[in-house]
Amino acid sequence: MSRTIFVTTALPYANGSFHIGHIMEYIQADIWVRCMRMAGHTVHFVGADDAHGAPIMLKAESEGITPRALVARYASERPRYLDGFHIQFDHWHSTDTPENTQLSHDIYKNLKAAGLISTRSIEQFYDPVKGMFLADRYIKGECPNCHAKDQYGDACEVCGSVYAPTDLINPYSALTKATPVLKSSEHFFFNLSDPRCVEFLQAWTTGNNRQGHKRLQSEVLAKTREWLGGGANGGEANLADWDISRDAPYFGIEIPDAPGKYFYVWLDAPVGYLASLKAYCAIKGLDFDQLLDPDGQTEQFHFIGKDIVYFHALFWPAMLKFSGRKTPDGLHVHGFITVSGEKMSKSRGTGISPLRYLELGMDPEWLRYYMAAKLNAHVEDVDFNPDDFIARVNSDLVGKYINIASRAANFISKHFDGQLGYQENTQVLLGEIERVASSVRADLEAREYGRAIRQAMAFADSINQAFDAAQPWVLAKGLAQASAAQKDQLQDVCSRALAGFRALTVMLSPVLPTLAANVAQNLFGETAAYQWADAHKLPTSISPFKHLMQRVEPRMLDDLFEAPAEAAPAPTAVPGGQPIAPTIDFKDFAKIDLRIARIVQCETVDGSDKLLRLTLDVGEDRNRQVLSGIKAAYSPADLIGKLTVVVANLAPRKMRFGVSEGMILAASHSDASVDAGIYILEPWEGAQPGMRIS
Ligand code: 2FM
Ligand code: ZN
Repeated sequence: MSRTIFVTTALPYANGSFHIGHIMEYIQADIWVRCMRMAGHTVHFVGADDAHGAPIMLKAESEGITPRALVARYASERPRYLDGFHIQFDHWHSTDTPENTQLSHDIYKNLKAAGLISTRSIEQFYDPVKGMFLADRYIKGECPNCHAKDQYGDACEVCGSVYAPTDLINPYSALTKATPVLKSSEHFFFNLSDPRCVEFLQAWTTGNNRQGHKRLQSEVLAKTREWLGGGANGGEANLADWDISRDAPYFGIEIPDAPGKYFYVWLDAPVGYLASLKAYCAIKGLDFDQLLDPDGQTEQFHFIGKDIVYFHALFWPAMLKFSGRKTPDGLHVHGFITVSGEKMSKSRGTGISPLRYLELGMDPEWLRYYMAAKLNAHVEDVDFNPDDFIARVNSDLVGKYINIASRAANFISKHFDGQLGYQENTQVLLGEIERVASSVRADLEAREYGRAIRQAMAFADSINQAFDAAQPWVLAKGLAQASAAQKDQLQDVCSRALAGFRALTVMLSPVLPTLAANVAQNLFGETAAYQWADAHKLPTSISPFKHLMQRVEPRMLDDLFEAPAEAAPAPTAVPGGQPIAPTIDFKDFAKIDLRIARIVQCETVDGSDKLLRLTLDVGEDRNRQVLSGIKAAYSPADLIGKLTVVVANLAPRKMRFGVSEGMILAASHSDASVDAGIYILEPWEGAQPGMRIS
């Protein structure tokens, strides 16, 4: 029975580039999608950027651009990564789109009509300088327990205690350093504690989908038991209503009939799955409503990381259910990626940059293979270990699998004009191929990729052993004088090896799509992409073998990891008092936009004994204001009319005496207590305001 399947991966926040964790999830999903398509199923595989929320708004502001411009910048680099790793989404969308606004509004209105939306006033910290409510991560202060300074509003990183932001001693806004004030405001809630929601979620989380499989992996199910009660731990449901609104200023979707109130980003983010599918349907002429008919046959699966289970196992199915929509058929939850056992930081990644991997000319299918070898259907972390990577690619992928073709093909091309020939017993060979292929297929479908790869490699081992045992290089000696039986035997041995190689290629094609297409076309002369049924055919001829895949060079792994700062050459002492900073790439330097500026105005700053307020002409259509701590060395009259150098792309900084839009460069002793003077830079004659310094 052919199935129709809707598959998504978690939508990445559009305020950063993809890191290796994103790529792992996409590879996992892409392999599954390809595997299902090989079985003849129809799969719609979509992604999108998660565009909304305070961090994106604030980052854009700090760069002096609009949130949309920021999102567009990250969106524009997505294809390099996705194409680079052969990750084939049918469509990539954004949550900042008319489709998503419409769908979010519709879902909200339906939830409201179902009596599941309520409002109440809540009191929260508010930054009076910035004029906005502060999420916990934007509030800092002294830990009420261990008195460590500068801890975040929800938990102390020093002693680990968890508290409310209002418990902090001397709280301050991480955005402006201002002391936050408590202010109340009306918020909208999704009434998850409503008995209807609890009852539905009890059933949805524990139930089976239409394939007869559990919707949730056992460890995910166990987690939902803690939240929902019941199960082994017993207990009552422990669901609080979900606060789904945020006050302006916020980059998000405005709530219908509630001016100045926006959906919290996590409300419209998963709706983005639907928005992306809807946009895709419009392009392809598919009927979106029919595809997601709650009583229809389409299956819906979400690949996500273990950190966002709460949103996907509780909020999302309940939102869909009570807005009268189709609910998901399963969550495919994976663990985190570690690198040599080290945890990755969400913002900084792991030190392996996917782009660097590609730029080094490393084969994307090595990574796909390696990830597949390490992934299973459980919520386990996956470790990227450089030595293990080299071993699996070189010894297994190339050494066991690719090697079969390179060893057997030449005999066939040289002595049999590319024609394969089998003696009796092809039934046994076919039976063996069918057994392995159906088992590998079942493992891939069940997302037991590691087990699938182990089976494939065991089959490669057995092919290599049979080949070695038959000693074809001995059979090929003096073949002109040899008996017909010897010739037949040589042809048979090599043909069997190549038949096994072809079958392995079919089985591995979800993991190694480009290699498989290359093998199909250039070795076996087949043009259509492999389907599972293709595994059960014996090839009859080959073209001469061409090189298929490189081995990894260990040097590449060294280059892949950015050298840690400590590994930089010993710094030399210099008269400025400070050693030279670690080496940077030109790329890093090029990020700094240095410009010639004319100081058109300069004045002292009331109340500040350090600052001068400079008005600079940087060749733009407006002047900039820069506050600079050079009052001790210069008086305004010294500077007016002079040229100097400014860092023109430094994020504007709100200071006590106003906003500073850049920084002028000056030399001083690095130890502030040594008074060796302050010296601002002045270019040689002829430089003009706005010229770039490089
Ligand atoms: O955790 C994250 O990166 C979120 N941007 C994931 C959103 S998944 C879905 F709900 F959109
Ligand atoms: Zn503490």
